[in-house]
Amino acid sequence: MDNSSAPVVVVLDGPAGTGKSTVSREIASQLGLSFLDTGAMYRAMTYWLLTNGVEVDDADAVAVASAKPAIVSGTDAGTPTITVDGVDVSTPIREQPVTAAVSAVSAVPEVRDRLVELQRESALAAPRGIVAEGRDMGTVVFPRADLKVFLTASAETRAARRAAQLGVTDETEIAAILTDINRRDAADSSRATAPLRKADDAVEVDTSEMSPDQVVAHIIGLVRDRAAARLG
Ligand code: DC
Repeated sequence: MDNSSAPVVVVLDGPAGTGKSTVSREIASQLGLSFLDTGAMYRAMTYWLLTNGVEVDDADAVAVASAKPAIVSGTDAGTPTITVDGVDVSTPIREQPVTAAVSAVSAVPEVRDRLVELQRESALAAPRGIVAEGRDMGTVVFPRADLKVFLTASAETRAARRAAQLGVTDETEIAAILTDINRRDAADSSRATAPLRKADDAVEVDTSEMSPDQVVAHIIGLVRDRAAARLG
């Protein structure tokens, strides 16, 4: 960090299973910044739509309904929270029905407009700054971020990590996770609104052969280099 009081914005984008959440949270903790998992917000919206009987493949119905739920994402890196209409949804948003439907929901422009506004409000409210992770942080939400990182890893590495997170060891189930990751990446990268894309000024980091600690240390090094360059 530099010595100025201006809050710092660090963004991490990339496909599923690159370790974005773990790494972003740890960077936020070590630097004393707030933390925002924007995927959790798209998942929370999806969960609310599913539990309120909205047909998630009907973009018009999703667009209208998306104004209704009150989604609140806590930004404390130590204890991230996510609630919808005051109810903690941190467990169900990680389950299969939400994972299967979230790409369709996150392709709807009205959903994105609403959540992007909440994401920018969170950053403005962060006293020292924020580490935000997602798919369009560097391209759309925080185009003037102090540091943009685009995380990648091979699809096989990403599937193995997701499986480990879920405690899955069966080969067939791991293959199904890989298929699902590839499907979601294709959908997220090809949608018309705010597709998953590396910002022109983002630093790409391939995490395939790196431990989470190594990725954290590398990115904190990049943050410090930027701060030093700013102080000149
Ligand atoms: O990071 P995640 O797997 O929890 O994200 C869930 C989905 O949300 C992902 O398939 C794409 C979408 N998403 C998005 O469109 N934009 C973001 N900034 C974050 C997530």
